[in-house]
Amino acid sequence: MNPKVEKIKQQLDQFRVEIGEHLEEFRLQFLSKKSELQQLLGEIKNVEPDLRKEFGQIVNNLKQYAQELFDAHKDRIESATPVHASEIDVTRPATLYTVGALHPVSIVMNQVCEIFEKIGFASVSGPDIEDDWHVFSALNFPQEHPARDMQDTFFVNVNPEFLLRTHTSSLQVRTMETCPPPIRVICPGRVYRNETITARSHCIFHQVEGLYIAKEVSFAEMKQVLLFFAKEMFGEETKIRLRPSYFPFTEPSAEMDIECKICGGKGCNVCKYSGWVEILGCGMIDPNVLDNCGINSKEYSGYAFGLGIERMAMLKFKINDIRLYFENDVRFLSQFAYTQ
Ligand code: DAH
Repeated sequence: MNPKVEKIKQQLDQFRVEIGEHLEEFRLQFLSKKSELQQLLGEIKNVEPDLRKEFGQIVNNLKQYAQELFDAHKDRIESATPVHASEIDVTRPATLYTVGALHPVSIVMNQVCEIFEKIGFASVSGPDIEDDWHVFSALNFPQEHPARDMQDTFFVNVNPEFLLRTHTSSLQVRTMETCPPPIRVICPGRVYRNETITARSHCIFHQVEGLYIAKEVSFAEMKQVLLFFAKEMFGEETKIRLRPSYFPFTEPSAEMDIECKICGGKGCNVCKYSGWVEILGCGMIDPNVLDNCGINSKEYSGYAFGLGIERMAMLKFKINDIRLYFENDVRFLSQFAYTQ
């Protein structure tokens, strides 16, 4: 493009914002007889014939644009009625305008990630559409495990080798396959399960899973890290307890409860009158899983854990229906506008 045209365009763009106060300056710079823009109009006739039409059009458009800007601002200034200072009521409440806010799931997801990042866990991400290996086989799921069934998992119609990940443990597999130990990562993400939608379960939800692999990792270390997490998340006085459980990819496995925040441990319908609520699953990584992912289980050991974000947010914000997260009802969402 002709450098003069380019220069005028840039000047016009710069001017556009403050033209209101400098209307006369604007007129002199772009619309007066002596302005560069007017001179360019005069140069059209000197341009080679086959380029003349195009050049003429560009310069005329520019001129028209400058004129329109000028007219619009002139009109605005002329039609504005002057207001006398005494007519302005400075005590009148300001107009409220709505601001966007983070979704409660994002708020809690960020909090969980920040807590683990503080103690050295790096965050990793990966595909929502996965294959059987990363979601099940590498994680030691037996062939007949119900999660492999169409009833429980969404498979991709066009190619049933692919499925929507049912947990973000698939990212643990991807990390183990690609990074040499020591490994210390968290895997936040959306997961999918073929569940009936009710107040307590949904076909989409979010998880953060964690993975730590090094030499001679102990169960006690895991417990301490999870206690640290619970205290950071729910307050210094939070109590935890671990119950034995089963997951194909960890041995031994446990589920962790915290003392119910709603009733303070006295018993209510959220904790089913037990005083405790489950918040995560965890365990020492099964040696088969390490070997499946190319890590020598004789040399390395580790722990893993996984928690559901919606559940965590339910406890934190005292929400009693998981469906609220996915309905995008502004009356619900706007309540979190001022939550950090
Ligand atoms: N993947 C499990 C689930 O979706 C949660 C879980 C439990 C993850 C134990 C882990 C773990 O990494 O060690 O229910």
